[in-house]
Amino acid sequence: MKHDELIAVQTTGNNLQNYDECCKNFRWEDVEKQFTWSKTGKLNAAYEAIDRHVDEGKKDKIALYYSDSTRDESYTFSEIKEKSNRFGNVLRKIGVHKGDRVFIFMPRSPELYFSFLGAIKIGAIVGPLFEAFMEDAVKDRLENSEAVVLVTTPALLGRVPVQKLPHLKHVILLGGDENVKEGFYSFEKEMAQASTELEIEWIDCEDPMLIHYTSGSTGKPKGVLHVHNAMIQHYQTGKWVLDLQENDVYWCTADPGWITGTSYGIFAPWLHGVTNVIRGGRFTPDDWYQTIEKYKVTVWYSAPTAFRMLMAAGEEKVEDYDLSSVRHILSVGEPLNPEVIRWGLKVYKKRIHDNWWMTETGAILISNYPQMEIKPGSMGKPIPGVQAAIIDDQGNELPPYQMGNLAIKAPWPSMMRKIWKNPEKYQEYFRIPGWYLSGDSAYRDEEGYFWFQGRLDDVINTSGKLVGPFEVESKLVEHPAVAEAGVIGKPDPVRGQIIKAFISLRTGYEATEELIENIRQFVKKGLASHAAPREIEVKEKLPKTRSGKIMRRVLKAWELGLPTGDLSTMED
Ligand code: PRX
Repeated sequence: MKHDELIAVQTTGNNLQNYDECCKNFRWEDVEKQFTWSKTGKLNAAYEAIDRHVDEGKKDKIALYYSDSTRDESYTFSEIKEKSNRFGNVLRKIGVHKGDRVFIFMPRSPELYFSFLGAIKIGAIVGPLFEAFMEDAVKDRLENSEAVVLVTTPALLGRVPVQKLPHLKHVILLGGDENVKEGFYSFEKEMAQASTELEIEWIDCEDPMLIHYTSGSTGKPKGVLHVHNAMIQHYQTGKWVLDLQENDVYWCTADPGWITGTSYGIFAPWLHGVTNVIRGGRFTPDDWYQTIEKYKVTVWYSAPTAFRMLMAAGEEKVEDYDLSSVRHILSVGEPLNPEVIRWGLKVYKKRIHDNWWMTETGAILISNYPQMEIKPGSMGKPIPGVQAAIIDDQGNELPPYQMGNLAIKAPWPSMMRKIWKNPEKYQEYFRIPGWYLSGDSAYRDEEGYFWFQGRLDDVINTSGKLVGPFEVESKLVEHPAVAEAGVIGKPDPVRGQIIKAFISLRTGYEATEELIENIRQFVKKGLASHAAPREIEVKEKLPKTRSGKIMRRVLKAWELGLPTGDLSTMED
C-alpha cells in the first residue's frame, strides 16, 4: 500500500504554519486563556460565541445570513445577543433551570439558532432533533432525555406524542396558535414580551451543554453528552482546520440535528466572530452554488454525498455561477473518494480537505490542513494536542500500514462526558485503558497520515447519516406482515451506503410490490425517511445463529457475492 499521489499545498492558509512544531509545543491550557474561564473560573459557551463580540466592538458585524425559499434575512451579533437573551428569559419565566433538557425539533430557521443559544445561556442542556424524525424516533429521544421543554412548529407537533411524555411540561410553538392549551406557548408572543437583558448563567467548564443522539449497532440511539469546555476545541479546530479569518463568510451545510451542524454550524464560526451562512430547506445543486455566489462564501464545509451529487450535476453547472470567492473547502462524515478530490481540483480549482471525527468526539480529531500536502483518500493527520493510533484488541500499537482499531488517547477537550443514562455503553468506548475506541478501522502510513477502512460494527453510514441496523429491524418486525428482518449497508456510488433489508414474511402474506412499498413507508413513518430501506428483499428464511441472532455478516456476504466465512454458529 504505497500512496504516491500528492496534492501540493495551494491554499492561502495561515493559521497553522508549522504542523510538527505545533504538535510539540501546543497546550490546550493556552487556548483556555482567551476566554472568561481563565479570569473568573466560569464560562458560558453561548456568551463566548455571541455576546463577547458585542463587548469587543463587533456589535454591528453580520453574524448570520439566513435564507430559504421564503425568507432572506441577516442578523448582527448584537441582534443575536438580544434574541437569544429574550429566549433565555422565556425559558426562565416558565421555570426552566440549569441542567434541564430543552429540545429543539424544527427545520433550520433563525429562530432555531436563537433558541439554541438562549437555552445554553441559562445553563440548560440542549437537544437538537433533526426535522425528518418521525414519531417513534422523536419519542425515544424525548423519553430518554426526560426533556421538559420542546421548541417545535405546528407542522411537526403531530409527530410528538405529548400524552406519552410525562416529563415534557412545556411546548413552545413557532408560528403556532397561541395558548392552544395548558403548557403550550407561542414563540412569537413570548419573545415579544421578554426582556433583551439576560442574566447569563456562568458555569463550570465541565457542566453539560448539549445532547446529540447517535445510532449504534444494537439498542436504541445513545444520548451523547457534551460539556461547555468542548468549545475550546471548536475554537481551535476552527482556526487550524477551517482556517477561519476575520473577514471570512463561512457556510457549513449540515443541519444542527447532527453534530456537525452545532460544533461547526454554530460554535466554531461564532467563537471566531465570523459571518455564518445558514441556508434552510433542501438543497439542489443550483441552491448550493447560488448560496456561495450570493454571499460570496469563502470557507465551505460540506460532506462527500453532497460533493458526489454536485459532481453528478456536472461541470457545466459550475460554469453558470461565480464561485471565485471560495478559498477553502472541507468535507466530513463519510469516506471522501479520491475521484471527488480530483474533480474538485479540476472544476473548483481547490482542494477538498477531508477530516474525521464523530458525535462522541465532539470536534475534529484528524484532518487535512491548508498548509499540508493532501494524499487523496486519506483523512489526514491528528490535530496538535491529540494523539491518534491504530491498536489491536489488546491495546498494542500497530506498525504503519497494518489495519486495526482507530483509537484516540483520552481525554481531549471536546470528548463526550457521558452516554445519557447508560454508563455501560460509555464504558465500552474505553474498554482498553487509556484509549477511546472509535469503532472505525483504519491504518496509518509511514508519514503519519490516517486511512479510513470501514466500521467495525454494523452501523450504516448513508449519506453521512449513521443508522443502526437494529432500529430498522425492530421497526420492520412491528409491521404485521414481517416475521424476521436483517438490515445491512449496501455500497452505493452517491450515498456511500444505502439501507438494504432482508425480510421473511408471516404466513398468509405474499411478496407483492404493493406490500413491499407499504413496509417501506411503515419504517419511513415510524423512524425517518433516511432510515427507510431503499431495497427490501424477501427471503424464505434468514440466516441465524443457534441462539436466534440474525447474522448480518452472512447477509452482507450474500449481497456482495463474498465468501460467508465461518458458519459454525449458524442454525441448520
Ligand atoms: O465511520 C466514521 C464516519 O462517520 C462516523 C461518525 O459519524 P457521526 O457520529 O454521525 O459524526 C458525523 C460528524 C463527524 C465515523 O465513526 N466518518 C466521519 N468522518 C469520516 C468518516 N468516515 C470516513 N472518512 C471521514 N472523514
